[in-house]
Amino acid sequence: MTPPVGGPRVLIVGGGGTLGSALCRDLAGRGHRVVATTRTGGSGSARLDLSPDADSWPVPEGIDVAYLLAAVTSTDECRRHPQASRLVNVTATVRLASRLARAGLRVVFPSTNMVYDGSVPRPGPDLAPCPRTEYGRQKSEAEAAILALGPAACVVRFSKVLTPMAPLVTTWRRALLDGQTITPFSDLPLAPVSLARAVHVLAALADRPSNGILHVSATDDVSWADVARRLAAGWGVDPVLVQPTRAAAGGHRPEHLPRHATLDATATEAALGIPPADPREAIDALLTGPVAR
Ligand SMILES: NC(=O)c1ccc[n+]([C@@H]2O[C@H](COP(=O)([O-])OP(=O)(O)OC[C@H]3O[C@@H](n4cnc5c(N)ncnc54)[C@H](OP(=O)(O)O)[C@@H]3O)[C@@H](O)[C@H]2O)c1
Repeated sequence: MTPPVGGPRVLIVGGGGTLGSALCRDLAGRGHRVVATTRTGGSGSARLDLSPDADSWPVPEGIDVAYLLAAVTSTDECRRHPQASRLVNVTATVRLASRLARAGLRVVFPSTNMVYDGSVPRPGPDLAPCPRTEYGRQKSEAEAAILALGPAACVVRFSKVLTPMAPLVTTWRRALLDGQTITPFSDLPLAPVSLARAVHVLAALADRPSNGILHVSATDDVSWADVARRLAAGWGVDPVLVQPTRAAAGGHRPEHLPRHATLDATATEAALGIPPADPREAIDALLTGPVAR
């Protein structure tokens, strides 16, 4: 593909995070001009801490599209510190989004399947949010305010994005290769997408403006125990080391136990030509991606 030299100039807020750093690499590698922000301002990024700076941060000149990827993403942290996390995930994010939209930028905001309660499989983008967690409530509130900015706004709801370097994956791998058992949840569903697929969707939006809500999800639910079993098989370890447990029965019961995590992503296929994938694609990408020991 010819690099889109002179294509949209892109701002990535939260360029040091999982999605942010992968999106920076992808867009820069394809010739886009990218300005990334991190909280430290290291490695050539611009410094931006959303909590104090959302109202005063000088928006760089000449940007066409902004991805607002910075957030407090730990559901546990949002539950334990609702006010501090809300300040970042709702108040500051919406304020910056408003300033960017007023300055004429398109705004892309990633959200989550957790804006739903998971009671039905594959809800469509038009189903009204019904979050059951603090993180889901915050993302739902931010979505609504950003969508109210008008046609410049695009919300992309992701179900779980799996990455090889995620602490859970590296911890499981180390334990299994050392012959230790792991105890993944059998009653907590996910509809995983690979990091490559998530970045593909976000990157496509740089060149193909879209507004409203898009869904990015695997076609079907799996459990964390299903993920662990497939990884164990791929790593060639004894399947008996995977000992599923029920989150509902344990001492660390999640804030909410949904029955489903899938989203209906057919509109995303229509808008961007990127169809939803089987959940095994995302799990198998963990076997071939970079590993930490
Ligand atoms: N990954 C998924 O499965 C998934 C699914 C659905 C939606 N999303 C959404 O996608 C976005 C990116 O997710 P991710 O997985 O890439 O998250 P991540 O790896 O946790 O990265 C989040 C980034 O936000 C930054 N950040 C946190 N507080 C900040 C603040 N006050 N000011 C500026 N930056 C701040 C962090 O900076 P530091 O490095 O300095 O901490 C980090 O770089 C988030 O909005 C998340 O809600 C992700």
